[in-house]
Amino acid sequence: MRVLSHLFENNKRWASSIREKDPTFFERLSGQQNPEYLWIGCSDSRVPANQIVGLLPGDIFVHRNVANLVVNGDHNCQSVLQYGVEVLKVRHVIVCGHYGCGGVLAALGQSSLGDLDAWLLHIKEVHSTHRRHLDGLQIPAELHDALCELNIIEQARNVCETRIVQNAWAREQIIDVHAWIYSIRDGILKDLNFTVTSPAEVQPMYANATDSVMKKRTHR
Ligand code: CO
Repeated sequence: MRVLSHLFENNKRWASSIREKDPTFFERLSGQQNPEYLWIGCSDSRVPANQIVGLLPGDIFVHRNVANLVVNGDHNCQSVLQYGVEVLKVRHVIVCGHYGCGGVLAALGQSSLGDLDAWLLHIKEVHSTHRRHLDGLQIPAELHDALCELNIIEQARNVCETRIVQNAWAREQIIDVHAWIYSIRDGILKDLNFTVTSPAEVQPMYANATDSVMKKRTHR
């Protein structure tokens, strides 16, 4: 069991099933990758990028971390973004979080999680930014869902504000930045009304998207 042989068995079956459908699939892909999408998502095991959107290897460049954060100074995320935008020239950057995100839930709590605390501070910041609205939500599940949505919108805006994306837009490279949320209850993705294609759209889209997070909950 030390070598996890069941996973190697799975892998052989998977590779041959792909070859059955498309005999030159791996040969073609081994030449180069040319993905149209960059996915920035949560590490949660229930939110696998390719499967959710039905894409094959080669279709989507992926970065995942706890609670899908895009933090200035995070060399890991910034390197993926830079490579995706400047080398692979992805057409779309998708920030995709999910309801029931453990990172977001932990950021709402008070208990210490060691090394994770510093990371979760970024979500606590999102909470403070929107505190005035979020404090009006009495039901914990509603607060949690709203913060999951707001966190994604904030991170998508962070993508827009990176020098990488700003420079790309300045040289008229076409990149759309999207904010999506996934439901682990039914497997369905939802667009959060944030699709930004130019620097001028960032603030209005952000205002619109964050407004609609609160509106759909306060008008119920
Ligand atoms: Co999560």
